[in-house]
Amino acid sequence: MDRSVMRETARGFQRYYNPKLSGELRLDTNTNVLGPNPAAEMYLAGGRWQLDSYPNTYSDGLRAALGELYGLQADNFIAGNGSDELLDVTFKTFMNWGDNSVVPVPSYTLYDYFVGLNGGRAIETDLTEDFQLDVDAICRQDAKIAIMPSPNNPTGNCFRQRDIEEILSRFRGIVVVDEAYAEYSEGSMIRRVDEFDNLVVLRTFSKAYAMAALRVGYAASNPKLAEMMMCVKIPYSLNMISEGAAIAAVKDQDFVRRSVEMVREQRPKLAAGLRKLGFEPFPSDSNFILARSPIDHAALVEGLKSRGILIRDFGAKRRTENCVRTTVGTPEQNRLLLEKAEEVISGCR
Ligand SMILES: Cc1ncc(COP(=O)(O)O)c(C=O)c1O
Repeated sequence: MDRSVMRETARGFQRYYNPKLSGELRLDTNTNVLGPNPAAEMYLAGGRWQLDSYPNTYSDGLRAALGELYGLQADNFIAGNGSDELLDVTFKTFMNWGDNSVVPVPSYTLYDYFVGLNGGRAIETDLTEDFQLDVDAICRQDAKIAIMPSPNNPTGNCFRQRDIEEILSRFRGIVVVDEAYAEYSEGSMIRRVDEFDNLVVLRTFSKAYAMAALRVGYAASNPKLAEMMMCVKIPYSLNMISEGAAIAAVKDQDFVRRSVEMVREQRPKLAAGLRKLGFEPFPSDSNFILARSPIDHAALVEGLKSRGILIRDFGAKRRTENCVRTTVGTPEQNRLLLEKAEEVISGCR
């Protein structure tokens, strides 16, 4: 059988990024380089679970803890299996078959996938030269959903708050602000979800909370939208063990604070080191940096891989031509990255 048996909007799908690993230093997934979340680890070490029982249907314990953290209600939140699940739920809840959704370029590669998976069409709108939102281009689209990650992946920068607010008032659909990296930045919309009837904010425990293995994410919105999404989400999708670890992590903010401080300290140093080697790093409000490579992007990424370091290649994509993305590491990891990058670059010249 050929791919014509597949759902039309999914026929062009390829498998997601899945590198073969042999012990490399991973600076390719923007996870927390300080190691696993200590509160979650402690919870797991002492944990005993009733494995024959289902978890709470809608993760009420975690939703209550999030309400306390942000000064909102549990009913403002939907918790799930990574923010990727909440992306899926958002499109499933608000988009009909064949509807349009607005996706900025460049942004998170999985948005197109989730739109297509749910039978929609992605309308791509380019970011401006300085990687900001083109507000007019977004607002004039006839679409059910406009999605934007802030800080943006892979560019690293936050979008202007006033642009997001303008889109919220002018766009005639649901506006999704994906804040996977918001802990590292200054601006966030999460505490303001009750002010807007069309705002959905997405967050994750995979980055600053250092719990990517446990797959926990959540959406926040006004309670009416949250209720709609809750009815669409697969019941029990967040398992009991991950939920318990996430509650423990929410109650211990010290690790997140330390992680953010480390990134804020190291980010300008890493950018300066990259610049010295001939890279052109773009301004970042997250725990990673996008930079134009001084040599061919693929040669750089391959050269680093053979020296035990993984970074992510965006060089073949429109708007990020010859660019690579690296997580901001610890001082030692950054030193190693710069040293190996220098080796690769001088070997190419
Ligand atoms: C912008 C953005 N949104 C969502 C996600 C998915 O996060 P999760 O691990 O919670 O599914 C990522 C992961 O890299 C991301 O970069």
